[in-house]
Amino acid sequence: MSELKWWQKAVFYQIYPRSFADTNGDGIGDLEGIRRHLDYLQDLGVEAIWLCPHYPSPLVDWGYDVANYTDVAPEYGTLEDFRRLLQETHRRNIRVIVDFVLNHTSDQHPWFQESRSSRDNPKRDWYIWREGRDGGPPNNWYSTFGGPAWEYDPRTGQYYYHFFFKEQPDLNWRNPEVKRAMFDAARFWLEMGVDGFRLDAVGTLFEDPALPDQTAPMSYEEWLKRWSAAADEAERERLQRVRQEMFRYQEDLPEVHDVMRELRALVDTYGDIVLVGETEDLAYYGNGEDELHLVFNFPLMKAPRLTPAVVRANQRERLAGMPPGAWPCNTMGNHDVSRALSRYGDGQHDLEIARLAAALMLTLRGTPFIYYGEEIGMRDLILTDLSQFRDPLGRWWYQVERELFGTPHEEAVVRGARFGRDKCRTPMQWSRGPNAGFCPAAVRPWLPVHPNHAEGVNVADQLEDPDSLLSFYRRLIHLRQRTPALVAGDYLPLAEDSNEALVFLRRLPEDGQACLVAMNMTAHPTQVDTGLDGWGRCLFSTDRAERREEALRELRLAPFEITIIELHPQRQSHGAAEHP
Ligand code: NOJ
Ligand code: CA
Repeated sequence: MSELKWWQKAVFYQIYPRSFADTNGDGIGDLEGIRRHLDYLQDLGVEAIWLCPHYPSPLVDWGYDVANYTDVAPEYGTLEDFRRLLQETHRRNIRVIVDFVLNHTSDQHPWFQESRSSRDNPKRDWYIWREGRDGGPPNNWYSTFGGPAWEYDPRTGQYYYHFFFKEQPDLNWRNPEVKRAMFDAARFWLEMGVDGFRLDAVGTLFEDPALPDQTAPMSYEEWLKRWSAAADEAERERLQRVRQEMFRYQEDLPEVHDVMRELRALVDTYGDIVLVGETEDLAYYGNGEDELHLVFNFPLMKAPRLTPAVVRANQRERLAGMPPGAWPCNTMGNHDVSRALSRYGDGQHDLEIARLAAALMLTLRGTPFIYYGEEIGMRDLILTDLSQFRDPLGRWWYQVERELFGTPHEEAVVRGARFGRDKCRTPMQWSRGPNAGFCPAAVRPWLPVHPNHAEGVNVADQLEDPDSLLSFYRRLIHLRQRTPALVAGDYLPLAEDSNEALVFLRRLPEDGQACLVAMNMTAHPTQVDTGLDGWGRCLFSTDRAERREEALRELRLAPFEITIIELHPQRQSHGAAEHP
């Protein structure tokens, strides 16, 4: 296992700085809040942190509209605070990667301010400016955040392009000066000692310069509505193709791979740096060594239900599609999607289902990324008051529901809240106390705290309880760290005809360690024939005694049971071996 790089072995933990811990009493999380919880992270077994954007920003997109790439947002602290956080995190052998937003800046970034000031400004070509067509935008492209992708700027009488909000103008990556400036920003953080980058929205760096109209058969709003109502997998696949058609001139253009290769070459000069792309497209692994180190397994995260068949198909497709040398990366949530528990929970077996999701992420082959609060089972908070919405996406969708689809106000608020991303960004729940211990009692946090913090969904209560979700995460992470096969082993599916149980082996090469992982993904008992002979030792189980010897062939699994058994090296191939 020692040949693996740190980022192949590490358990990552994503922190949304604004929502982690507030130490200066303004209701906004800060870097000092993260620093003060490093013991917690270390005890959990976290070995690397991904920090969502910590840069100065006017906060239209809550930090993904960067106004300065080489500084810290004042409400989070100073560069000095960042250095201190980095140092103390490293002292605990925890790495830090930062978010890097390549595609666009804030419209308040000095580069854009200059660019928009006149047609002949030297930075004009740093962004994408075009003449309008027939009194309207240059073409019919959409912004993925709603409305046209073009914004008219009366000062110079041209339109600029934005894939996201209009306050996030796209940089022109065809201009070498842009690349130079952004690579300088990368160097700034690498020199300071960060261990890598999570690259935002990599697929959106280039657009077709000929600006052909897209030819999708419906509007984007209509598409979104159908998507949220899609009844089955076939419908989702059909709609996925429509979306591809809609955005085909704006996403994943081949030129982006040149930039990825150049960025990879740059970071490689700083040692073992990791690049994680916000994309699921395996093409971003390049040849396995020359583009991104990690690409998220979003298809698993986005699966509407976790079933053995879904997971098996996902693994089959992903692992086979990766170039040699590439390493997978699994996650169950992030700051853009519904929290795992809200997505997968059935209202009856939520704890069990949350454990399954965690166990998948921590035992499948690949680097796991935990989203803050997932380890205590935080859920979406659906805001019911429009004035509390912080994410403009939620507000936009409320308007669409009202104006385009005639939805009554109250229903439109709920749909807006579900569409927006505030739901999964609420403050971390540290205790059952006021404001969940996120900020002082008298302070109003930037987003409301989920009331379930008073009902056990908090760190303090769960630390005390050996049966809590937090204890489960902790136990399984620690097991993973001392079990090489679970980190470095290959993945071999077993009992592939079972609709109830997911069973697979993780095996090191050449008679190295092998572990059998078995999960009953249903609420009733089941039995599987693993096809394996012999015995093994139970390393971890929700239902059986650990360290006990277990026969491998016929596994009886209790409802939602998760069990990991280490195979005895010599006996595994000896047919129905005698009891050891
Ligand atoms: C992806 C980020 O995860 C999301 O939060 C953001 O709004 C967009 N990229 C634009 O930066
Ligand atoms: Ca772009």
